[in-house]
Amino acid sequence: MRKLYTEVRNKRETLCSSWISLSSVYQINQSLCCSAGMYTGTKWASSAIMSSVLQKLISPLASSPAEPPRNKVTVVGVGQVGMACAVSILLRDLCDELALVDVMEDRLKGEMMDLQHGSLFLKTSKIVADKDYAVTANSRLVVVTAGVRQQEGESRLNLVQRNVNVFKSIIPQIIKYSPNCTLIVVSNPVDVLTYVTWKLSGLPKHRVIGSGTNLDSARFRYMMAERLGIHASSFNGWVLGEHGDTSVPVWSGANVAGVNLQKLNPDIGTDADKEQWKATHKAVVDSAYEVIKLKGYTNWAIGLSVADLTESIVKNMSRVHPVSTMVKDMYGIGEEVFLSLPCVLNNTGVSSVINMTLTDAEVGQLKKSADTLWGIQKDLKDI
Ligand SMILES: NC(=O)c1ccc[n+]([C@@H]2O[C@H](COP(=O)([O-])OP(=O)(O)OC[C@H]3O[C@@H](n4cnc5c(N)ncnc54)[C@H](O)[C@@H]3O)[C@@H](O)[C@H]2O)c1
Repeated sequence: MRKLYTEVRNKRETLCSSWISLSSVYQINQSLCCSAGMYTGTKWASSAIMSSVLQKLISPLASSPAEPPRNKVTVVGVGQVGMACAVSILLRDLCDELALVDVMEDRLKGEMMDLQHGSLFLKTSKIVADKDYAVTANSRLVVVTAGVRQQEGESRLNLVQRNVNVFKSIIPQIIKYSPNCTLIVVSNPVDVLTYVTWKLSGLPKHRVIGSGTNLDSARFRYMMAERLGIHASSFNGWVLGEHGDTSVPVWSGANVAGVNLQKLNPDIGTDADKEQWKATHKAVVDSAYEVIKLKGYTNWAIGLSVADLTESIVKNMSRVHPVSTMVKDMYGIGEEVFLSLPCVLNNTGVSSVINMTLTDAEVGQLKKSADTLWGIQKDLKDI
């Protein structure tokens, strides 16, 4: 009889211990009981009363661990841009887990805690951060905003090379923990760094996206719409090519409610135009410099625009956005460069590219953008 009792007890204990390892709710109870009097990260388990309240209040039901997150988003770099992306993504309820990574540990922890304290007002249940990339495991989407800034007198190529070195410490780690993720590169120069990311990641080209001229196009639509007295969403216009100085405004396609502006004013966008609409595109190109001069950096508009890209990807929406993609063999471009074209974004990343009907002049400008980028890329080392 005694032998039978011991056998039953042993079996019960074995079953019970494997159940404990499976039940996350039970694990919480256990850890609170075991660590009475200890600080366990975010919760004080200082008295028997607390563990008792928890045990009395909550009865574990599930016998399997919680499923991994389905829409986990990681933001690498918690500077001005990274945090604007993170907050915009959180406010639009686009992820079930948000992970942050940076090399500056105090700032990283501070940003994580500050966001966690806003949990009551958010619908993202888990916000985590660490300098160790294990925290990013199972990300569906990774937004890279990390980078070094240009130093006084430093050439663009030198800055790019320094950022290549930063990316060499980031991209392989991301892929190690989330081999099936889609990457959105935001750090500048964004088109070149998207190419670098593609090379370093080994991912297929449709899963590596540069935020590209999504922001330039948003600025263009805002400024054109302001001049017309309508909302930005009602002015349809695209800025393609390089994010930056050689970006290409597609005047041939600019329209409001399908009414083509070039048909109303054949000179629109040219020097011959008496109304000088071209100045709007110049203002777009100059706007980043102007905002940086005024407040030191740009962050809100890029953060909002990255959240919009995120939504199209995680919600599998197949919306069309001007983002940086690999354009070799398109519009007569012969090199492996990334620049912005209208791309269909869904849960495969860039699922396809829209073949825009561009004028010869616009194609010429795109090629100029590609040449500028290749001029930088061809001299990069170690990628
Ligand atoms: N694509 C666009 O439209 C667009 C718009 C605005 C800014 N940007 C670019 O975004 C980038 C970030 O700008 P910011 O204002 O946030 O800069 P920032 O200096 O405020 O933040 C950069 C962050 O990157 C982190 N970092 C540096 N090296 C790292 C590494 N190896 N691993 C992890 N984190 C690292 C830094 O610690 C810092 O927190 C810049 O390259 C900027 O030019 C792009």
